Amino acid sequence: MAKHGKAAPKRGAARKPAVPIESAEATHATTEPRLVMAVPKGRVLNQLAPRLAPLGVDRDVLLADDRTLVRDDPTTGVRFLLLKPDDVPTYVEYGSADLGVVGRDVLLEREYDVYAPLDLGIGICRMVVAGKAQAHPPGRTLRVATKFPNIASRYFLGKGQQVDLVYVQGSVELAPLTGLADVIVDIVESGETLRQNGLTVLEVICPISSVVIANRVALKLKRAAIAPLLAGLRI
Ligand code: PRP
Repeated sequence: MAKHGKAAPKRGAARKPAVPIESAEATHATTEPRLVMAVPKGRVLNQLAPRLAPLGVDRDVLLADDRTLVRDDPTTGVRFLLLKPDDVPTYVEYGSADLGVVGRDVLLEREYDVYAPLDLGIGICRMVVAGKAQAHPPGRTLRVATKFPNIASRYFLGKGQQVDLVYVQGSVELAPLTGLADVIVDIVESGETLRQNGLTVLEVICPISSVVIANRVALKLKRAAIAPLLAGLRI
């Protein structure tokens, strides 16, 4: 048997009948949704669900503790796609979702051809430079670890400070602890991760919050469905 995957059934052994296509489809989507909204899995979803609840969206649809990535809300006809935060604008730009909710950090890091009509005032945090108290090495260029290389390079360029950037994907706080970098550029929300790793905020780059983004074509063609949703979220 291969290391990954199931063993092939023995010749002549009874196999389970294949699921008919109709019933497989019916499990996931019975009708076309009025709107498709891409939302980020994780912390922000807990803050987004109560904002959508007054518009008729069932909280349990968004917060169900399972692995389904497509969630249909029967009352409002909105289909939710649960994505990694960085992927939300991509789905909206290409029209696989009409709307999305994403942190402004994602939009600052990469350019997307989407509208951003509304700041939700949730997912509030800060983009910062953080490190140990005495972070600047004497006699050499500051080394900065980050998963936001564009934001970081713009920031230091704006200050006229030359730095060496080291790209990492996560657990950025480890970089100054191991000598990979002198400081990090990262998001701070509660400050707990910095505190528990003996790091502090050295400079604040900008505030961050979650915004609604919209596909340019959908905003025109589905205005009748999108406008009341945006109006409801604005309150
Ligand atoms: C983010 C960020 C910090 C942490 C800050 O990481 O990169 O590590 O949250 O939050 P706090 O100030 O509330 O402690 P995330 O949880 O997205 O995971 P990652 O480190 O794998 O990127």
